[in-house]
Amino acid sequence: MRDLWLEHLQLRLPQRADALLGERLYGCIRQAILDGVFATGSRLPASRELAQGLGISRNTVTKVFDQLLVEGFLTARVGSGTFVADLDSAYPLRQPGGALPDAGSDAPTGLSRRGAALIEHASASVRQWGAFMPGVPDVRLFPHVRLQRRLAALSASAAPGMLSYPEQGGDPQLRRALANHLTLVRGVHCAPERILITEGLHQGIDLISRLLADPGDLAWLEEPGYWGIRRLLEINGLDTQPVAVDDEGMRPEEPFGRPPRLIFTTPSHHYPLGAVMSIQRRRQLLDLARRFDALIVEDDYDSEFRYSGSPIPSLQGLEPGAPVIYAGTFSKTIYPGLRIAYLVLPEALAEGFSSAYLDLHRGGHGLTQRALAEFIDSGEYARHVRRMRSVYGRRREQLSSLIDARFGTSLLPADARDRAGLHLVLQLPDAVDDVALARESAAQGVLVRPLSCYYAGETVRRGLMLGYASVDESEMCVPFERLAACIERAMAE
Ligand SMILES: Cc1ncc(COP(=O)(O)O)c(C=O)c1O
Repeated sequence: MRDLWLEHLQLRLPQRADALLGERLYGCIRQAILDGVFATGSRLPASRELAQGLGISRNTVTKVFDQLLVEGFLTARVGSGTFVADLDSAYPLRQPGGALPDAGSDAPTGLSRRGAALIEHASASVRQWGAFMPGVPDVRLFPHVRLQRRLAALSASAAPGMLSYPEQGGDPQLRRALANHLTLVRGVHCAPERILITEGLHQGIDLISRLLADPGDLAWLEEPGYWGIRRLLEINGLDTQPVAVDDEGMRPEEPFGRPPRLIFTTPSHHYPLGAVMSIQRRRQLLDLARRFDALIVEDDYDSEFRYSGSPIPSLQGLEPGAPVIYAGTFSKTIYPGLRIAYLVLPEALAEGFSSAYLDLHRGGHGLTQRALAEFIDSGEYARHVRRMRSVYGRRREQLSSLIDARFGTSLLPADARDRAGLHLVLQLPDAVDDVALARESAAQGVLVRPLSCYYAGETVRRGLMLGYASVDESEMCVPFERLAACIERAMAE
């Protein structure tokens, strides 16, 4: 047997010329054991014998044996040698010859029902950058160097605490900066202790649905509404009920039926159609939330971009103690890859949320959070948002003009031109398959989203969402012409 080992290794060792000698020897012995070439209990040559036979140093052989002993591939009996350990008695891995026991040709996927459903219905766009990808800001125009400079200075003298796991709730300076900013700019009732920094709003919504609802609980969602939130809730086992939206925002109608636990809404700028929620509806929603002992989740994803009139104050700020979780993100004002968002929680929930977040996700990027806090405190953040507002305002006008010149006002009626946000919605006749149209447009290199995907119920409107924020005015014509040709073909069918 010992000779067989030597022969095997003499043959295999030269075939693995890709690593250091010790690593090659280790790899050959380990693989031979895993493949069942040598049975449990078979004895290996002594280290001196093996070193001589292979023409390598004994030291290399003993180090390899020691490593394999530590990992449990070998056992050693004092005075009698080194042996292949029993790997298979409890957890058989492979039969001699290499086949997995009872394995078919396909490895099992191991997906849970939940996992399989998640993958089957995955809806995120494969490509996330290019004309006219909705919801994406112009990531090129952010003053990256300024944030990087702060980051570099912070890294050079980083306090250990900032490099460790984060404090509960996230970086304290960022929470303070945000509390000031949100109070001032969004009218949010807010103290730093009530803020939880998350890695994107998706993560915040995931946490809300896990901490505030059990599987089978009901959530109201706007119809149409952001599919991403619907997916998060459904995967966490919540039932979702679409609630219609009109030009005053979400419109809950009696009879209400089963009471919701959570109510998701975008009151400052309905996503995707753009309505601003009226004060009457805001009051109705607060009243219903209290009546049902539910919480409203106010998704304020892009309220910074309003091109005429005054900013719309938050729903959360309407009254102190409102049953509202305010949720915001830097994805639209800075860039989505930053993955920094925040929840402003009712006082009674803040501490629990922060400790659950640490257990579930930990979070991180303390230095980036601190650099962002400085960026906000210095006034640079507000300046950047102001600048982008005027850039996006011009792009919006340019895209509207292109649409008017090509289609008149039929696809973009005057009352559908909300002067806010990062996208326009083209309305299409019911007979047009907007999903096929978006696919065709993507094949031509132009990214748009079909409006029908934002509906969960039976009644859907057809249309296309066109993001203009990431496309310079001078670059708009070519992709628009390609898209327009696709639209005309689809409408002629
Ligand atoms: C309406 C709405 N809410 C929330 C989000 C998620 O934001 P985040 O990038 O912070 O996860 C998006 C992203 O596109 C969105 O469109």
